Amino acid sequence: MDRLEAQKRITKLRNEIARLRTEYHIKNTPNVTDDVYDSLTRELKSLLEKYPEFKDPNSPENRVAGKPLDKFVKVKHKNRMLSLNDVFNEEELYDWEKRIKKLLPVNTKINYFCEAKFDGLAVSLIYENGEFVRGATRGDGFVGEDITENLKTIHSIPLTLNKINGEIPKYLEVRGEAVLSKKTLHKLNIQNEKEGKPLFANTRNAAAGSLRQLDPKLAADRKLDFFAYDLYLTTPAQVFSFAPRAATALSLNKKPVLASHSTKHQFLRELGFEVDTHDAVCKNLSEVMDFIKKFEKKRANFSYGTDGIVVSVDNLELQEVLGVVGKAPRYMAAFKYPAERATTVVKDIKVNVGRTGVLTPLAIFEPTLVAGSTVSKATLHNMDQIERLGLKIGDTVVIEKAGDVIPKVVEVLVKMRTGKEKNFKMPSVCPVCGGKIEKRQAGNLRIFEPRGSQPVIREGHRGQKYEEVTFSVAFYCANPKCPAKNERYLEHFVSVFDIYEMGPKILRRFKDEGLITDAADIFTLEKADIASMERFGEKSAENIIEEIKNKKRIPLSKFLWALGILHVGEETARDLAINFGTLDKLMNASIEETNEIENIGPAVSESVYNFFRERNNLNFIKKLEKNGVIIEKAEKQKAGKFKGLTFVLTGTLSKMSREIAKERILKEGGKVSGSVSKNTSYVVAGVEAGRSDSESLQTRMSSKLKSAEKLGVKILDEQKFLSMLN
Ligand code: IVH
Repeated sequence: MDRLEAQKRITKLRNEIARLRTEYHIKNTPNVTDDVYDSLTRELKSLLEKYPEFKDPNSPENRVAGKPLDKFVKVKHKNRMLSLNDVFNEEELYDWEKRIKKLLPVNTKINYFCEAKFDGLAVSLIYENGEFVRGATRGDGFVGEDITENLKTIHSIPLTLNKINGEIPKYLEVRGEAVLSKKTLHKLNIQNEKEGKPLFANTRNAAAGSLRQLDPKLAADRKLDFFAYDLYLTTPAQVFSFAPRAATALSLNKKPVLASHSTKHQFLRELGFEVDTHDAVCKNLSEVMDFIKKFEKKRANFSYGTDGIVVSVDNLELQEVLGVVGKAPRYMAAFKYPAERATTVVKDIKVNVGRTGVLTPLAIFEPTLVAGSTVSKATLHNMDQIERLGLKIGDTVVIEKAGDVIPKVVEVLVKMRTGKEKNFKMPSVCPVCGGKIEKRQAGNLRIFEPRGSQPVIREGHRGQKYEEVTFSVAFYCANPKCPAKNERYLEHFVSVFDIYEMGPKILRRFKDEGLITDAADIFTLEKADIASMERFGEKSAENIIEEIKNKKRIPLSKFLWALGILHVGEETARDLAINFGTLDKLMNASIEETNEIENIGPAVSESVYNFFRERNNLNFIKKLEKNGVIIEKAEKQKAGKFKGLTFVLTGTLSKMSREIAKERILKEGGKVSGSVSKNTSYVVAGVEAGRSDSESLQTRMSSKLKSAEKLGVKILDEQKFLSMLN
């Protein structure tokens, strides 16, 4: 074969491989065998070895696994990767609808899009000019890990996108779920069992484990799949002119956008992605419930693990209006299928000592299989929980577990008692250090979902406004030097600092050998200290030291989270960092100042204030800084465009509710007031409420306009207001 013939053959082979890929992964035609596909790929590879000038990084032959990596590189997501709020039954689904309807103009017609919720790993894929350039994990939603090489081994991820109407998007981000089939999981677990390795509890853990392998060959062996479910067409910097055929493209500010979530799915298919076909556009929630019930029947026989149905407001303009609260969009809800239940016997109740010193009772079971994995223990949270359940050691209990949820004890089968059951008592001294036990009250948070709905009590749930109402008693080890507390704290600290090389076992050894007494000592470790320890080679010592050195620089939000301040988790730490900008400012803030921050309640403000007034904590921070930790200032939220402006809203807006309008003004740094004064910057006048029974509203409304005129305050109609916002 001469060079020209080879080139032609290469093109033919590439096209045929691409066609087979589409047949198999996208159209789901099973008559394409792996053997044919593999043999064509082999021929292509050998031709390219002879004629390397025809190599192309994104051609099908390059799905072969590349070289193993030393570590994953962090990548910042252009668009934050969010999570979903769960609903567990029909009533909660209707409550969700009630809440969103309140935020939309009256009588807005909502279509819902339903699709399967896969139990896998969320992944973001970036395409530039139609070529796959980068893929990343979700990470903390802002920053993920670059797993491009592993993703390239997944055949249902196109390396090159199909053109649509001869055009290719300049930039495209695709979101979807990397999944492992139930069959593959089963095979993998049989293999692991033979080799004496631990088994994967579910398809999600197996998929995540496979993609976190540094060697792409291992990922390739796992035969993963990818289902696309969302896309972002442009970044703010890259607007492109593109009219997808599948989309009823709608022109907004000259930027073409897709009009609905369902057309996004269609568009993804046309680009060459595998998109699950269990979906439906529903006209109302009763149709949504029908879909949910129908899929529930098919679920057991579905090839992939699913844990629910994602229900979205289909119209993208409405999605935009509803926006995001906390970590999750308001326009989507994850309907979770009921947890699976099983019965077992509580052999013992042990007590764990946590990072804050809190004692947590833990039920130890006769191991039993629930929702696909073996369960042998479950937290009982606190004494109240044990009392509420009426649980004794030796009891037969009902436990439940949803696919991705930690198992819990839901009921005691009192009739199964033999009389030999024993009452559980909290130990009077710390089970680890023998220290004194203190009783303290712990708050439960009462959350107000956006306006009007019934408050629900959920512990520690973030992202919504809340108020503290109920208290329960918790037991704490009062010894500040308790080794268990310190160990848990060290584990927390290294995990927030992303020092992956230092797992719990290594940390314990360092402590036992006296190499570290607290977390700050980690930063003064030297290679020689570690290498001299038994079973530590030069290389691993070097890796640990290298990693620690690289992790000395940390953003303020993560630093605050790492400090382990009571009630300050990841999200709260971020809110604090953004609002104060520097550690100094936060340390000097009064309780009232902290309390003023959106999403932060009195329990947090008080705990933060007290933390920075304790000498030990201040010394610890000083020591960290002395040992080289550099705390990066948080970028203060950009001063919004409405900074210093006060708005008064009147009448009804047609594009959004007053609630949402208010939220958008606040987000842009503006204020909203109920009455017009000389301090008002603008009155936004919607159309008249037009309800005959709202006489007083009408008079008030016109009085607002009258005052505005009298005081010379500018009046904006809805259109002008919207253009100021956008
Ligand atoms: S929509 C707003 N659609 O569920 C972020 N998510 O609980 C949700 N997931 O992180 C994106 N199947 O990993 C969406 N069909 C689907 C999904 C899906 C699985 C996962 C995804 C996300 C998590 C949220």
